[in-house]
Amino acid sequence: MKRRLQYIAAVFLVAMSIYGIDRWIRNDADSPSTLASTATRVRPSTCFECHNDIATKYAAAPHNSTLRRGDDPEVIAALAGKSAILNDHRHSFVERGGQLFAGHSAMPTDRRVDWVFGSGHHAMTPVAIDVDPDGHPRLTQFNASLLADGELGATPGLGVTVGQRDPAQTIAGLPPTHGKISDPAETRRCFGCHVSGLPQIDGRIDLNNLIANIDCNRCHPGATAHAQSGGVAGLTLDWANLTPLEAINRCGECHRRADEFTPDELGPDVLHLVRFAPVGMAMSRCFVRSQTTEMATSDPRFARFDCVTCHDPHAPASTNAAHYNKTCFACHDFGKGGKASVALQGPGPHPGQRMTSGCTAAGAESSCVSCHMPKKESGEGLFFTDHWIRVHRR
Ligand code: HEC
Ligand code: HEC
Ligand code: HEC
Ligand code: HEC
Ligand code: HEC
Ligand code: HEC
Ligand code: HEC
Repeated sequence: MKRRLQYIAAVFLVAMSIYGIDRWIRNDADSPSTLASTATRVRPSTCFECHNDIATKYAAAPHNSTLRRGDDPEVIAALAGKSAILNDHRHSFVERGGQLFAGHSAMPTDRRVDWVFGSGHHAMTPVAIDVDPDGHPRLTQFNASLLADGELGATPGLGVTVGQRDPAQTIAGLPPTHGKISDPAETRRCFGCHVSGLPQIDGRIDLNNLIANIDCNRCHPGATAHAQSGGVAGLTLDWANLTPLEAINRCGECHRRADEFTPDELGPDVLHLVRFAPVGMAMSRCFVRSQTTEMATSDPRFARFDCVTCHDPHAPASTNAAHYNKTCFACHDFGKGGKASVALQGPGPHPGQRMTSGCTAAGAESSCVSCHMPKKESGEGLFFTDHWIRVHRR
């Protein structure tokens, strides 16, 4: 327990030291989750000329389909014709004139689907937009979402019941609804993490002119000037110059960061944290011991370890066990006995002593992540990978 608190303290100290330097890392009103970008932008197609390989593979990246319109042919192909019984009523999606609509068996008219959140790797949630009495846009998440198995199911987090409810549980007098309305502030946050530019007019988000999806510019500030200069001008941000914690917190701007939570909320058994990869990673002994302590950062034998050690942000996550094993082997050795140990010197009782943390459970050919980073249900019907690398006891 004491040890864990020390790790938390280490993470917090480093997090605090970078807190003020770069506002992008902060999740306050000025963070890009509420970003208002009106600067001249260069479309990702401009990058093709010189970064053909990355720009080509980016077309299939989940980051490139975080938000699509309700008239997007791929979205229509995925949703039109599907239906499910939710909260006692049949919810369905239909296409009319190249536009997706949501039907509800107890409603006289269909409602237009304006946007769809999520690439479909985990879920696709259709939403409709209207305005509140002050004219601020707000979204309604439909009760039905497309889940990873390709079937329509309950939108996670809305408390929607699949099928017919027990009459005793039906809340008397409540009219049936298409879904759940988010207030304007939440609406702004939803779009903020799923777009690359969210302009505003008179303090209202301008959904007609947003730049959908996470494009090159969102992760590579300065790319516009860089491209316009023919690749001569440097970028404002060089990911390699960030410390590992700064780097995972950048990704954590959308994927969430450990310093957004109180120490009480950061336990290995807090299930919903599996959704927030940078939180788990920042808490892992692998990360804390090799990346955030002074000993670690001054020891060149510690390989750099951040999100891009395992993930190419320009492509879907690899599903290949060997790919991930390779990243473990950068620090963990399988010695003569076939046991994993940390191939580095650590602060043992004797200077220069080798850390011996062996894997007594499996050999070098096994899938390390299947046991040490298992997939878990987050509590809302979706599965995520537990990025808090550790021994899981059953
Ligand atoms: C006219 C050619 C050209 C265009 C267009 C171009 N780049 Fe580059 N880019 C380069 C060259 C050349 C380098 C290598 C610079 C170096 O290594 O110093 C580079 C390097 C980069 C790097 C790595 C920087 C680093 O510090 O390692 C990134 C990221 C990048 N470009 C992003 C983009 C994006 C995003 C776009 C589109 C908005 C773009 N580039 C458009 C030529 C171009
Ligand atoms: C601007 C917000 C934002 C930032 C910044 C961001 N992501 Fe994401 N990321 C998302 C969203 C939204 C999704 C969900 C895409 C979907 O619907 O499948 C996602 C999905 C992913 C996935 C899942 C891919 C898959 O195959 O399912 C990985 C891995 C990932 N991001 C890694 C990163 C890394 C690494 C960084 C930092 C270099 C990063 N992200 C930065 C918003 C962001
Ligand atoms: C702080 C940034 C952030 C905010 C705010 C946010 N999202 Fe996301 N969203 C993400 C990231 C990162 C992912 C990918 C990882 C994950 O699935 O959690 C994602 C994934 C999704 C997905 C794909 C399915 C899934 O759960 O993986 C949907 C659908 C979605 N978001 C809808 C929404 C809606 C609707 C809202 C507002 C009610 C919202 N998001 C607010 C960052 C955000
Ligand atoms: C989710 C964030 C994210 C997005 C979106 C993104 N990148 Fe990157 N990119 C990164 C990170 C992080 C690195 C550093 C990778 C590393 O150090 O291995 C990188 C590295 C690069 C590099 C230099 C390294 C290399 O492999 O040559 C280029 C060039 C580049 N990106 C271009 C692009 C282009 C073009 C796009 C849009 C089509 C794009 N990126 C979109 C996060 C992103
Ligand atoms: C040690 C390797 C490793 C590192 C480092 C890592 N991931 Fe992952 N990540 C995985 C594995 C394994 C998967 C599951 C891939 C699969 O089989 O679908 C995954 C999946 C994901 C997904 C898809 C949703 C899920 O949970 O399955 C997201 C989003 C993601 N990672 C984000 C990140 C971010 C952000 C970082 C940096 C904080 C990061 N990852 C660092 C190994 C890693
Ligand atoms: C950058 C180096 C590095 C990488 C990469 C790395 N680890 Fe570690 N890992 C460490 C260090 C350092 C420790 C702490 C050893 C100690 O405290 O004795 C550790 C500890 C562990 C522990 C014990 C954690 C605990 O809380 O008890 C496990 C299990 C583990 N690593 C598995 C893995 C697996 C599996 C991978 C690949 C997915 C991986 N590690 C990648 C450096 C790394
Ligand atoms: C079948 C599940 C399983 C697989 C596969 C597996 N491990 Fe383990 N690992 C465990 C268990 C269980 C322990 C705890 C063993 C013990 O306490 O005796 C452990 C312990 C460890 C430790 C020591 C942790 C500590 O407390 O010091 C490391 C490091 C480790 N594993 C790394 C790996 C690596 C690297 C791989 C991939 C080559 C791997 N493991 C594959 C289940 C597994």
